[in-house]
Amino acid sequence: MMATVIVNRSSKEATLSRAVIKKIVDYVCELENREILGKLSIAFVSLDEIRALKKEFFHQNIDTDVISFFYGTEEPDEVWGEIIICPEKAREYANTYGTKYENEQKLLLIHGLLHILGYDDIDAKKKHIMETRQNYILEQFLTAEKRDLLVISAQKAQHYAYAPYSLFPVGAALETCDGKVIQGGNIENASLGLSVCAERVALFKAVSMGFATFTRLAVISSDQDYCLPCGACRQVLHEFAPHLEILAARQEGDYQVYILDELLPNPFQFNPEKGR
Ligand code: THU
Repeated sequence: MMATVIVNRSSKEATLSRAVIKKIVDYVCELENREILGKLSIAFVSLDEIRALKKEFFHQNIDTDVISFFYGTEEPDEVWGEIIICPEKAREYANTYGTKYENEQKLLLIHGLLHILGYDDIDAKKKHIMETRQNYILEQFLTAEKRDLLVISAQKAQHYAYAPYSLFPVGAALETCDGKVIQGGNIENASLGLSVCAERVALFKAVSMGFATFTRLAVISSDQDYCLPCGACRQVLHEFAPHLEILAARQEGDYQVYILDELLPNPFQFNPEKGR
């Protein structure tokens, strides 16, 4: 069952959307194999407000970034847990570590939720375990976000495919190492053998625009099955990105992950010196 999440923002600094907050909560629960039975309340408050709460409930007159309360009710209409986040602290961490402000807010949310799920940071060992876990979860979540966006981009590219002969439009979206996304759709021809697959259209577009290093590729067709690049495309992709992550998608949020190496273990390699 998906968690019921209530979001309150008394701080204007809070920038995470409700959808992202919900996605993070569900993601943490899935990775931790836990379920939220009642309601989870998440509040974004100012530094003054969180200081006041810290003083009232923990008798400490100090700044803090996140506070969690766990009530543990199993009643769906009652509050199961509460997370109070101070976005100003996230801003401070982002400035100190040169990280993204959005991601620091996500990390505070993950940290607060892990506390409710039983993690603690009262001694160095527990703190290390908790920090390792929260960093891992954030990293995985950010990767999942990028993958989801790439699949959506491939889906959009499918609309521009030209496939009047096969009636099998394919969309591809190729992510460059600097985070740009280049789309491609298959382009068919009356002389059928001249058709070019979506993956190669995307790759050739990207290379001719000056991009040379790539992280991942999403491919989608309208078929019920996951769409994997054909052998010819694997060879061509391998030339530029042998370790490319391939997302064989079926629909938004539904894809299989491969590494090009494993899809094409022994590519053709051309060594002109050998031929002489
Ligand atoms: N096609 C792709 O665009 N990518 C693939 O990975 C497999 C096949 C295209 C080629 C042709 O236009 C149509 O799908 C049917 O084979």
